[in-house]
Amino acid sequence: MSQERLIVACDFGTTSFRGLVTEVNDAGEYYIVAHATGPAHGFQDGDFTDLGTGSRCIAETIKALEEASETFITGFTYNISGSHLHSLRSTAQVPIGPGPRPIREADLEEARLRARSLAMPFDQKILSVTPVEYVVDRVRGVVDPLGRVGSLLEMHAHLVTGSRSVLANMENAVDNAGYKALGEDVDILAAARALLTAEDLAKGVMLIDVGGDHTNWVVYAGGAIQANGSVPYGGSHLTRDLAHGLRMDEEDAERIKRENGVVLRSLVDHVPVRVLFEEERPEVTPGLVAAILEPRMEEILTLVKEGYGDLGRLAKLQAGIVLTGGGSRCRGTRRLCEEVFDLPARRSYLPPDLPGAEDLPDGQWATAIGLTMWAAADTVAGSRPDARAAGGGVLGRLKGLFRSRRKVAALEAEA
Ligand SMILES: Nc1ncnc2c1ncn2[C@@H]1O[C@H](COP(=O)(O)OP(=O)(O)OP(=O)(O)O)[C@@H](O)[C@H]1O
Ligand SMILES: [Mg+2]
Repeated sequence: MSQERLIVACDFGTTSFRGLVTEVNDAGEYYIVAHATGPAHGFQDGDFTDLGTGSRCIAETIKALEEASETFITGFTYNISGSHLHSLRSTAQVPIGPGPRPIREADLEEARLRARSLAMPFDQKILSVTPVEYVVDRVRGVVDPLGRVGSLLEMHAHLVTGSRSVLANMENAVDNAGYKALGEDVDILAAARALLTAEDLAKGVMLIDVGGDHTNWVVYAGGAIQANGSVPYGGSHLTRDLAHGLRMDEEDAERIKRENGVVLRSLVDHVPVRVLFEEERPEVTPGLVAAILEPRMEEILTLVKEGYGDLGRLAKLQAGIVLTGGGSRCRGTRRLCEEVFDLPARRSYLPPDLPGAEDLPDGQWATAIGLTMWAAADTVAGSRPDARAAGGGVLGRLKGLFRSRRKVAALEAEA
């Protein structure tokens, strides 16, 4: 009989906190039960700079999530982002047998362990280890070494590390809010998990998440992660540029950006200069908005391109660029991205066909969905007792709302 678990995840973004309660069954099907958004004060560059205020914001978001889902939440999984994150490569070598023999799971486990044993600054903690390539007896590009006969196994891995102090601060903030920190995953890896298909990963793809204060990116090729990084500019900088350029306060600039933001001058140049926002600012035209926003968005995308640096490999990303994050919502962003990278680009904000996602308001939910998938995979693997608890005792019993919504989803699936 199918077993369902509930997973709670919260995306700590620089502009807002977003929580999700999702039901996951053991066939790996997801149903979003409830969502909630809260303010993100006391939180900067992926760190709680004001613990008291940050904890109050967490409590506000999760309380709203409890109400929306009619559940009692005691813990959740959350994202890690910010300039304290670093990525690096590691190579592990494991001699097999005295003579050649089939590679076993224990050899792979040993390779993973050795890949982690790097000399690195004492304040850094390894957050993720992802195999990039296996080499068996100098044969490169081995996809699955398990069962292959060899005498030397090599694993090239991609590691992401984060500051132990920042990670401890995050845990404290969650704890002070009255909840248990059940697990943490790297922000951009969570978004990639939610949005990229297996085909994207195989063909080669770059995901760019233009957030509030920063833009995170990750590149996959041949099914494996190649590199990831961050640029300290995002949608908030577009707003600030607009406020500065139009000599108005940021609130008005934010409204103009969301309603009429264009980041590509060529999209509006052919339109005769038309007066917008007539009552307030007769001189604000789409051309002017684009003239202010385009250089900043171009700078962000160019910095991402330079951050990756490997232009030869970039040109070979057959699935092109996937844009996400609120900062990528201005008109013209996709076209500008194609011009900067000379690659096809598409925008993506939610995984397709995710039951319950149709109730989500506009916003950046991909990270919270990816965190949910991460926590769900972990519970299935059973490798982390904390996470297992998330599916069982951590959440209180569900009430009517959840049951009735599930029923609706099941009926829709049958139809
Ligand atoms: N419709 C829209 N048009 C233009 N910009 C938008 C729109 N909606 C949101 N934004 C911008 O998106 C940015 C926030 O993006 P997002 O919600 O992805 O960030 P975040 O997850 O809170 O932050 P981060 O990922 O950097 O920690 C803000 O600068 C906001 O102005
Ligand atoms: Mg974000």
